[in-house]
Amino acid sequence: MTAPFSSVAPGVRDRTGNDPIFIWNGEARSRAAAGEDILNATIGALTQDDGVLCTLPTVLETMKRLQGPRSAGYAPISGVPAFRAAVVHDLFGDGPLSRQAVSVATPGGTGAVYQAVQNFLEPGQKMLVPSFFWGPYREITGHGGRGLDPFPMFDDRGEFDIDGMAAGLDRHLATQGRALVVLNFPCHNPTGYTLSAGEWDRVIDVVDAAGQRGPVTVFIDAAYMEFGGGSARGWVDAVPGLMRNATVLVGWTVSKSMAQYGARIGAIVALHRDPAELAQIDNALGYACRATWSNCHHLGQLAAAELLTDPELVARVSAERAELSALLQGRIDAFNQHARMAGLRTPRYDAGFFVAVFTPDQDATAAAMRDRGVYTVPIPGAVRVALCSTPASTIPRLVEALEIGVAAAS
Ligand SMILES: Cc1ncc(COP(=O)(O)O)c(C=O)c1O
Repeated sequence: MTAPFSSVAPGVRDRTGNDPIFIWNGEARSRAAAGEDILNATIGALTQDDGVLCTLPTVLETMKRLQGPRSAGYAPISGVPAFRAAVVHDLFGDGPLSRQAVSVATPGGTGAVYQAVQNFLEPGQKMLVPSFFWGPYREITGHGGRGLDPFPMFDDRGEFDIDGMAAGLDRHLATQGRALVVLNFPCHNPTGYTLSAGEWDRVIDVVDAAGQRGPVTVFIDAAYMEFGGGSARGWVDAVPGLMRNATVLVGWTVSKSMAQYGARIGAIVALHRDPAELAQIDNALGYACRATWSNCHHLGQLAAAELLTDPELVARVSAERAELSALLQGRIDAFNQHARMAGLRTPRYDAGFFVAVFTPDQDATAAAMRDRGVYTVPIPGAVRVALCSTPASTIPRLVEALEIGVAAAS
């Protein structure tokens, strides 16, 4: 029987409850379960070639060992002190940046994005984001009564469109009196792009200029940092320059770095040159914790704190992660080689879980690929390919399907 009226608030009626990526993944899985030979390059988790999720044995052992009455109790609201300190140390070591930073526990990197949006934008304001972006930024901003404002990500030479970002910062300072920009580097999801040192220098110049006119916050979403290869920590060198006239936030998560997607362990790290401002930020972040998730996964924080500080565990995790990085790198190298031969258009792609292949019609491309049993995720202007879950041996088939898909759209 149809209800005479809906008690669901008008603003949230007709929302979709699932992420489109999970929908495509679901379809791929059910076709595979029905016996079809499916290549599923939709899911953003690193898997072995046989499809089993990659994990780090030392992380699993540590979590098991620390399970007990202590971990069953509530964690402090802003996080376990040892965890908070370990995260800052993980990013900035014993250097001066560590003394200008606070970190607050969050449920994964998603929680860090949520904290940035809630505390650095007023309701009704927008977050600046490159035109290719991680889809949930839209839901996180929308759910909090904020919005998204994309600027062109690439210029004519295929490099980061710094002028587009500068124009966005100017516009936001003029129209909303503040600006929050998210930079998801290294290993940008969904394009695979990583800013070069020269590009970071230009970002610093632009942020420096904008930050003299009004409050600017740069949120570095470093979710894939540990898979950034040689440039994994390159962004850290940019932080002092960014801090000259802006607030810097970093989204930190173990979802990928410790292959603990389900544990929901993360942190937001804030950096500011003024200790009084930093104390205010710390308080605002703690308040938001209490008002949303109350406190975060206690066991995960205890485990992460040990895994980040015990020298023996640090060495073991880093060796185990190196094996996963090598697995991923083999896929990236194979993809780049075949994609170049096929003439596919992609951004510069040296590291990371994903790459985007440009196409004039992403839906036509993805549909033509699905006809051949190959699943990617259509995004405006491209399809996203999750090499993290694509065995190297299947890359010739993947690239052939991409070639056919792009041709079908042209
Ligand atoms: C760009 C980006 N940011 C943040 C996250 C959030 O990660 P978590 O699973 O830790 O919430 C993801 C996860 O896919 C991501 O791709």
